[in-house]
Amino acid sequence: MLNSKIVGLGHHVPEKVITNEYLSTKMDTNNAWIIERTGIEQRRWMDPAKDTVANMAAKATRMALERAKLTEKDIDFIVFATITPDYFFPGSGVLLQRELGLDGSIAALDIRNACSGFIYALSVADQFIKTGKYKTVLVIGAEIQSTALDVTTRGRNTAVIFGDGAGAALLQATDKPGILSTHLHSDGRFAEELYVKDPGSSRPQEERQPEQILDTSTYKVVMNGNQVFKHAVVRFMEVIQEALDANALKTEDISLLVPHQANLRISQYIQEKLGLSNAQVYNNIMRYGNTTAASIPIALSEAWAEGKIKENDLICLAAFGSGFTWASALIRW
Ligand code: UT7
Repeated sequence: MLNSKIVGLGHHVPEKVITNEYLSTKMDTNNAWIIERTGIEQRRWMDPAKDTVANMAAKATRMALERAKLTEKDIDFIVFATITPDYFFPGSGVLLQRELGLDGSIAALDIRNACSGFIYALSVADQFIKTGKYKTVLVIGAEIQSTALDVTTRGRNTAVIFGDGAGAALLQATDKPGILSTHLHSDGRFAEELYVKDPGSSRPQEERQPEQILDTSTYKVVMNGNQVFKHAVVRFMEVIQEALDANALKTEDISLLVPHQANLRISQYIQEKLGLSNAQVYNNIMRYGNTTAASIPIALSEAWAEGKIKENDLICLAAFGSGFTWASALIRW
């Protein structure tokens, strides 16, 4: 039986740093509130002259390829997780394929599972490798959230949280353990607790004409923060436990937990409940905010570069977000 193994990681974030002080000039908020409630000190927001979802993903991919000593031509399949594609359609996978100079001999698939998107994408890639269909799969999480934020006091519970960036992971087949399991969940009853309504297709035609749109607030991120927080802490714990149980492993076997960077308070809550030390949990939300599908691969790429992921380590990934969707993965590195 084949397994898949992550052989290369990379990431890219926009140059533009958005500080809490800057946000305080745009809305009724302040540095102390943001740090206390979210742990975020700064985030990166795109520069329209430079950054696209696809070109950030291409930069992350090139870093991953270099670290894996592979080239673009080795990629057999792209699985691209994003809820903020450059176009309404086609998806970002084909745009990345074009950026990488790859032709029609490979396929590109888009995944729209928000903050759980990277783990969903990893799971899809893992299945294709396990069946022997593809040898090298590129898995991406990349987002530009900033342009959908309401940067006024009305949108302050989301504007201070979200950031932009991209992360990439290259998967290849191995006869060793590698990705031990992925567990995926969703519950659409809560779809509107965290969503962007437009451009929704189930609208009368005339409502989708730009000149008819007087109120553009439906194009902005809306989140019931409290509700999302309460579900997140429960589901993170459940899905991590599910992964450990499925592999007959225990919390103390985890070398490093890389949680989706939703809110530092969520990560700290999970850490405490699982009894993990600071060294066993990787957080970088302080620097990047919540980058949705990009947060786990950016964190993995940084943790790896800092020497925090070594051969044979047990790495646990977990995420929760819009949908609601939630997921976990256990990886023997
Ligand atoms: O990525 C996956 C999904 N996302 C998440 O997991 C995020 C989950 N939720 C959260 O992280 C938190 O709910 C927030 C950080 C969004 C909000 O923190 P909170 O501690 O849950 O605050 P709250 O929503 O209960 O609001 C408390 C107060 C409110 O004022 P009143 O009604 O008490 O007067 C808010 O209006 O804080 C106010 N508030 C702010 N004040 C200053 C909300 N946002 C801000 C802000 N600055 N940016």
